[in-house]
Amino acid sequence: MNTNNNILQDSFGRQHTYLRVSLTELCNLRCTYCMPAEGIQLSPRSHIMSYDEVYEIAKTFVDHGVTKIRLTGGEPLVRRDADIILKKLSTLPVELSITSNAVIIDRFIDILKSCNIKNINVSLDSLNAEKFKTITRRNDFEKVYSNIMLLIKESFNVKLNAVLIKGFNDNEIIDFIKLTKELPISVRFIEFMPFDGNKWDKAKMVSYAEIMEIVYTNFNEKEIIRIQDAPNDTSKNYIIKDYKGSFAIISSVTNPFCDSCNRIRLTANGRLKNCLFSSSESDLLTPLREGKPIEPIIKKAIQSKFKMRGGMDTQEKLEQPDLHGNNRSMITIGG
Ligand code: GTP
Ligand code: 5AD
Ligand code: SF4
Repeated sequence: MNTNNNILQDSFGRQHTYLRVSLTELCNLRCTYCMPAEGIQLSPRSHIMSYDEVYEIAKTFVDHGVTKIRLTGGEPLVRRDADIILKKLSTLPVELSITSNAVIIDRFIDILKSCNIKNINVSLDSLNAEKFKTITRRNDFEKVYSNIMLLIKESFNVKLNAVLIKGFNDNEIIDFIKLTKELPISVRFIEFMPFDGNKWDKAKMVSYAEIMEIVYTNFNEKEIIRIQDAPNDTSKNYIIKDYKGSFAIISSVTNPFCDSCNRIRLTANGRLKNCLFSSSESDLLTPLREGKPIEPIIKKAIQSKFKMRGGMDTQEKLEQPDLHGNNRSMITIGG
């Protein structure tokens, strides 16, 4: 049991300095791997954190050592008061960043800059407009692509997230890597992960090993350079010699990176998730509204964090629907 005041250190000695805040359960896309086809039961509006509550809870975490906050969703920018939240959080002494699908991000360039946001991660699973439509169930490829170009032109650090699905977009791995020849971006290939309602099937997942096999068949071994990962990085990073950008693999299924985990999550309805895969959650919003301190709840939640993937410490366990189905669907976690 942790008896010190360091409420963000877990029983394995991991210090949690990175808070991911989901601002909304809503999204303007409908990605099949993220949003169940039948939709989701939305939280009543009154159960969603107001901008003041987002700020207050985030500030508590910052007071206890959080140095990085990433805003997620659904799509964080569809929230009507997204600009107010950005401005309020930018007054905290943290690195503020955002993960977006980029559909409407062109409207936010000035505000993102004024909030000193430098790192923007954008989800893009295909470079083909028809496939984009199939996976997102929306026709926004051109908009997203031109917005990615806009972000690069405006000098943001851009990472592209591509969730790979076997037989669907794994034939685009090399096209994505070729984008990094001239563009100073990082393209990250993500192993498809199981969440409630996303029809996960191991056979649909493209593994780290399979991705690298494709890379090694298409590039000369000497051109493929493994580069240093950032501390607490989720990705294994590479560059192709003389390319301006890099590529990486996020291998949560076949090569989890939980030992160096520094992440915790706050859902749009004010619950703390101590792991992306945790089936239990701790309500912070109700006590906050009742004027009660939330630190003891945070401490307890961090102390109960499992060593790996919410207790699914083998691939076999992760594959069991009765285990991963206890978690939320991804749209309400925010990645
Ligand atoms: P950086 O802050 O740039 O390191 O971004 P990130 O990779 O943490 O965040 P992003 O929102 O771009 O997420 C990319 C992918 O990584 C998504 O599929 C997330 O679900 C996954 N991911 C993010 N954090 C975690 C985590 O703590 N555990 C696991 N297993 N996957 C994560
Ligand atoms: N498996 C892996 N990554 C996922 N994301 C959403 N659902 C899944 C899933 N089932 C990714 C999105 C987004 C990031 C926040 O999480 O592509 O970029
Ligand atoms: Fe951390 Fe859980 Fe992600 Fe592992 S699966 S890196 S413990 S959030």
